[in-house]
Amino acid sequence: METNHKILFQNANNLHQIKDSSIALMITSPPYPMIEMWDNMFSEQNPEIKEALNKKDGSIAFELMNQELDKVWDEVYRVLIPGGIACINIGDATRTIGENFQLFSSSTRIMNHCLKAGFSALPKILWKKTTNAPNKFMGSGMLPPGAYVTLEHEYILILRKGGKREFIKPHEKMNRQESAFFWEERNIWFTDIWEGLNGVIQKLNDEKIRCRSAAYPFELAYRLINMFSVKGDTVLDPYFGTGTTMLSAMASARNSIGVEIDQNFKDIIGERTKSIVEYANAINKKRIQQHLEFVKKRESEKGPLKYTHEKYGFKVMTRQDNSLIFDDVLSCKQTNENEFKVNYASNKEMELKSSIISSNKEIEERYNVKEYPLEIPQIEQKVERLNAPSLYNFF
Ligand SMILES: C[S@@+](CC[C@H](N)C(=O)[O-])C[C@H]1O[C@@H](n2cnc3c(N)ncnc32)[C@H](O)[C@@H]1O
Repeated sequence: METNHKILFQNANNLHQIKDSSIALMITSPPYPMIEMWDNMFSEQNPEIKEALNKKDGSIAFELMNQELDKVWDEVYRVLIPGGIACINIGDATRTIGENFQLFSSSTRIMNHCLKAGFSALPKILWKKTTNAPNKFMGSGMLPPGAYVTLEHEYILILRKGGKREFIKPHEKMNRQESAFFWEERNIWFTDIWEGLNGVIQKLNDEKIRCRSAAYPFELAYRLINMFSVKGDTVLDPYFGTGTTMLSAMASARNSIGVEIDQNFKDIIGERTKSIVEYANAINKKRIQQHLEFVKKRESEKGPLKYTHEKYGFKVMTRQDNSLIFDDVLSCKQTNENEFKVNYASNKEMELKSSIISSNKEIEERYNVKEYPLEIPQIEQKVERLNAPSLYNFF
């Protein structure tokens, strides 16, 4: 199996290279309207934004910034397949303009536009960030009523183009089953409040680009990709930054297209792909290890599980997670200036050759997970150096 990953360095407001109805999933985090670090970038895209900010007209600046984002959401709607999903990570902003402190709710503004564009809203996720400290007082300190609530969360808006995606042909059904996740992963991933996802190292050691990457955690994109797409799908990120979505797609056996306006990200994206083989395989092992730990605990509390995974031999909770397949990454090669190919070995083939195994001990030996440290420290250190995603506390 092979996946393809392409980066377009351009404004995402016109994605004419991408065909209508060709993308299964869009995951992104745009520049946040009315957060100061993005003022210049928005103003470059529309100089009236700078004028509005200079005139201290927050409402106009906010609206114009959102109009830049609207063009991209419209393009996303066009390129998504029927039943395709868009996940938008966005934080609201608080800002004092003139004398007036106020909230600029980008999550509301974006949701309103996307509904008008034709999307249907699905339940959204509230991502409670560990990085925003609540002890930062805003307003009048301990004196009412002028003290302000601190924003400690962002949203992941989840939208769908049309109705439920259909899987009709037998090979589509089979691929969907092989793209399943564990029952206990579902219980964590599909809660509407996400906590404990670690941020990534925000500081970039490259003078050409701004000093903060604004990257989201690898796990955020990894979860969304596994929740809302199947293997072999194409995932789009129109605000690509350091390429976290592409790395997560590579680790999940999905294709990807990234769009980024700032060419200066090229080196850092290339650099991050260098650790993906080791990183992706570490994630597979870690998921298996965590599953074995879950099974052990569950069986000790509630007795034997009913189902045994057809290929891997370990116990699973339901018939659905009975056929999920892990694809180990064999290689990641740059095939073009802005293109990468990733090759996979499906563990399925490996397992089909061997007989079913029954004990946890045998499974641990087979997957070499017994000694596998939960924090994966060696990889953690290495990826930190490369500005690659943090594996600390994965899951
Ligand atoms: C919040 S960052 C995305 C970070 C990314 N999720 C990551 O993990 O690195 C937004 C990115 O969008 C880019 N950008 C802003 N406006 C754009 C536009 N109109 N078209 C394409 N990229 C744009 C910025 O340069 C920035 O890298």
